Amino acid sequence: MVLLAFSCSFRIGLCPTRTRLQGRKSNVEASTLHSSGTLRIDELTAEERSVYATLKRESLPEHVAIIMDGNGRWAGHRSLKRFLGHQQGAKSVQLVTETASRIGLPWLTLYAFSLENNLRRPRAEVNFLMRLLKTYLETNVQRMMDNNVRIRYIGRTHELPPEVQDKMAWAAETTCRNSGTTLTLALNYGGRTELVDAFRGLAAELNKKHTSPDRITEEDIHRHLYTANMPDPDLLIRTSGEMRLSNYLLWQVAYTEIFVTERLWPDFRGIHLLEAIANFQRRERRFGGIGEGCGEVEENPEQIHIAAS
Ligand code: FPP
Repeated sequence: MVLLAFSCSFRIGLCPTRTRLQGRKSNVEASTLHSSGTLRIDELTAEERSVYATLKRESLPEHVAIIMDGNGRWAGHRSLKRFLGHQQGAKSVQLVTETASRIGLPWLTLYAFSLENNLRRPRAEVNFLMRLLKTYLETNVQRMMDNNVRIRYIGRTHELPPEVQDKMAWAAETTCRNSGTTLTLALNYGGRTELVDAFRGLAAELNKKHTSPDRITEEDIHRHLYTANMPDPDLLIRTSGEMRLSNYLLWQVAYTEIFVTERLWPDFRGIHLLEAIANFQRRERRFGGIGEGCGEVEENPEQIHIAAS
């Protein structure tokens, strides 16, 4: 097996404790996490290896976030019940995570259950999704260990059923010393709610320190997000063709490249992750600056006459 060390600059974090999931408001952690990866290219399928070979190693994304959509449609196209789409979707979660770990992707963040899903879906479907998550954790933690994957969560997870929280805490504790891909599941998550929780935390901090709100910086807000210890996503993938953010990581995706595929989540595999990364690498990220081929910069802008429009 070819093992190549993959260095990374994130700081080492602490393992979560069981009480964290049972905390009252949010799961903001005080520490930062170290996340890196060890390349295990020989474990990719031949098809995956051929796409991986086209990628530029120096510009691989550090953080990929995915909106996993289309489980219901996948089932509908086969005249199956929706729950079978979710079940197949859970399989995609594990397979995509394993490919991510093999290419040394440090951060993978999956939108697994939104606050809106919790409020607006039939109770029977919500209950099924909770049971599916519990079973997923029970049956996949060993595979996470084998792949050096660490699992953690963002969202108002303290509102999930206690037995699900217990299983989540167990999986997080079991995998917390793994140093490869960090798989973050967004559960009972909403981007606006995350901002509400962040602003509440920040307001309490300002109050305690008697600091004026005029001194608030973007960094202060970042420190209070659920993702405080993670880099912003470089790439956001959405399956099933919808052109929406659906309240996902609203603060964090300010400069994220978005890739939408018609493929439904239960059909999404590691090779499609690699194809999305290849597409990402063809983009020019400008972060508000000027790109190549975007016109010459004027040397003496003060001499230009601005025509009335
Ligand atoms: C969207 O499909 C997907 C979800 C509601 C959440 C994602 C859930 C999974 C992938 C299943 C299990 C996950 C884990 C981590 C065990 P949809 O029902 O909105 O599809 P539709 O738009 O076609 O109806």
